Amino acid sequence: MGAILDGNRLVLGTCYYPEHWSKELWREDLQRMLDAGIEVVRIAEFAWSKVEPTEGNFTYSFFDEFLDLAEEAGMKVIFCTPTATPPAWLTEKYPEVLNADINGTLYRHGARRHYNYNSPVYQELSKRITEKFASHYAKRPCIIGWQLDNEINCEMNVFYSESDSKAFRVFLKEKYETLDALNEAWGTAFWNQTYTDWEEIHVPRKTYSDSTNPHEVLDYTRFISDSARRFAKMQSDIIRKYLKPGDFVTTNGLFGNLDNHQMTKESLDFITYDSYPNFAYCLDAYSDEPGELKDRKWSRNLAEVRSISPVFGIMEQQSGANGWNTRMEAPTPRPGQMTLWTMQSIAHGADYVSYFRWRTCTMGTEIYWHGILDYSSRDNRRIGEVKDIHGKLAAMKEMAGSIYEAKVGIVKDYDNIWDAQLDVWHGRVENASQKALFKTLQLSHTPFDYVYLKDTTDADELKKYQVLFYPHATIITKEREAVLRAYVEAGGTLVVGCRSGYKNMSGRCVMDNLPGLLSDLTGTDIPEYSFIAPDAGKVTVKWGDTEFEASIFADLLEPAGEGKLEASYTSDYYAGSGALVCNTAGKGKAYYYGSAFNEESARIFLEKLNVISPYGDVIHAPEGCEIAVRAKGDDRYLFVLNYDKNPVEVELLQKGTDLYTGQEVSGKVELEGYQTLVVKL
Ligand code: GAL
Repeated sequence: MGAILDGNRLVLGTCYYPEHWSKELWREDLQRMLDAGIEVVRIAEFAWSKVEPTEGNFTYSFFDEFLDLAEEAGMKVIFCTPTATPPAWLTEKYPEVLNADINGTLYRHGARRHYNYNSPVYQELSKRITEKFASHYAKRPCIIGWQLDNEINCEMNVFYSESDSKAFRVFLKEKYETLDALNEAWGTAFWNQTYTDWEEIHVPRKTYSDSTNPHEVLDYTRFISDSARRFAKMQSDIIRKYLKPGDFVTTNGLFGNLDNHQMTKESLDFITYDSYPNFAYCLDAYSDEPGELKDRKWSRNLAEVRSISPVFGIMEQQSGANGWNTRMEAPTPRPGQMTLWTMQSIAHGADYVSYFRWRTCTMGTEIYWHGILDYSSRDNRRIGEVKDIHGKLAAMKEMAGSIYEAKVGIVKDYDNIWDAQLDVWHGRVENASQKALFKTLQLSHTPFDYVYLKDTTDADELKKYQVLFYPHATIITKEREAVLRAYVEAGGTLVVGCRSGYKNMSGRCVMDNLPGLLSDLTGTDIPEYSFIAPDAGKVTVKWGDTEFEASIFADLLEPAGEGKLEASYTSDYYAGSGALVCNTAGKGKAYYYGSAFNEESARIFLEKLNVISPYGDVIHAPEGCEIAVRAKGDDRYLFVLNYDKNPVEVELLQKGTDLYTGQEVSGKVELEGYQTLVVKL
């Protein structure tokens, strides 16, 4: 993709705010960045007023002056649209552009992201500023790409303004055409909620115990996602009119209530992510529980990013302590942690890493959100670490463009993600299973991908996975069942957990025998089900010679059709009822497991299905290290990341080349606390 993600190099960048510093500092800052190996700056995402200081008056000289210097210095620039922070003149004159809380109280000027996507005025003014930015700046030779807005759906991903209610009605009319169809989909016969006029419909408002009709809330979440996507597309369409060949459009994520996959497909060349693993060390949230994954949990987010763009960028990579003046305080990364977090991003597919931010801001809410440099700007340990990282990336550049390897997939889809947000039965099992699967896969050194199921997903996209877990496929459609079936018939192994197949796309429960549309594929019938009672004690499952604990829920299973009972519950009144059924379909197998996953059961599934620790013949490493492999053609690059602050020993069972040093490496290797190793196998 032009200057970054070109498949040849790993590139470093930083976030710079010319508007925060005296112009005298610009030239020296740019030179010091280049000296440290930083080749790209991202600018302007919060600087609307620098170009439109008063309504309709445009002036370009501020950024032109900066871009002149960037061009002179040889610095590349990612330019942003500034819509995340509307100017004071705008919100004062047009309060309808403001977002509101659920009670209708407006969020006022003073922070950021206080606008709503659906205000016609905001759409017009955003269109105009995007057009002005792009038509004036996009031709500049130093610009290599564009970021839309900043962190779409961050801070606030629910919207309750008047414009949102109006746009929600339009969304619903397009979707349902008639009120009868809407009333049916939302089950409004329940509690006398029937709508007789479109004007009676609003975005969710305050209701008793915040228990608004769930089918309405599910559609509302889809509506928010649509609104955000439309806003991004509006900007992307404008920028593309002016884009130089080779330049890209991206935005930085990932945030909730947004179909990031669809947004990327329709508006971006690739997604970038903002990675802040130091959140794990926030003073008010820090936990030193044994086995806590802490900063390693960010690998879960990076796996999400990879599911959108297998090779991606990090637009903001943590480089200092965090803290707003109001919250989120955390320590400075220890020596080595910046490198560790950078390599964590690269291990998952980032070929561009840009540090947030060059210098710590001396004013405003983020005075404690440290960048590479402290307020004084003196050389410090962290800029030393950036220089060292730059040396490492130069030495390992051949791995650019390689793709993360995984044989296990965890299937997800937005309908179920959003249903699990609003439905506590669904959410309870979903959250527990996702957490347990991720942790078990991480600790057992079993790389995995998230695989998003859309109505357009082809079974061919799934075939590279030996095993797919779809932990709780609560909402299922005929189309999705057909894709899963084709995957299984072609030789794949599918595992679904409890509470699968009981809802339709409106989130209404089906009247079929459960698991509904998944009955046939899994060869399973569920005559009875229950939460595991809090006083039931330990409910166990016996699978062959292995016994393990069920979690949270118990679907009591019976095999149906050709399905075979593989495991049964052994305690409480569930004893003797089926806990796991396996059905053979074509060349593959589909399992229905009647409970949620915990770390014990997840490990047993990985073992029994023969997908645990696929690099066991390449490396022995303690649980505290993450193992990842990126591959390109016949070349494979092994990442070993030590998240422990203490030294650990790993053993390479094959000879390889240490990419940082170019030296051959094999056998026992000691890694310092936070040390990383990248080995070409
Ligand atoms: C990100 C945001 C940045 C900055 C940073 C630290 O979410 O994009 O602008 O706010 O967090 O708070």
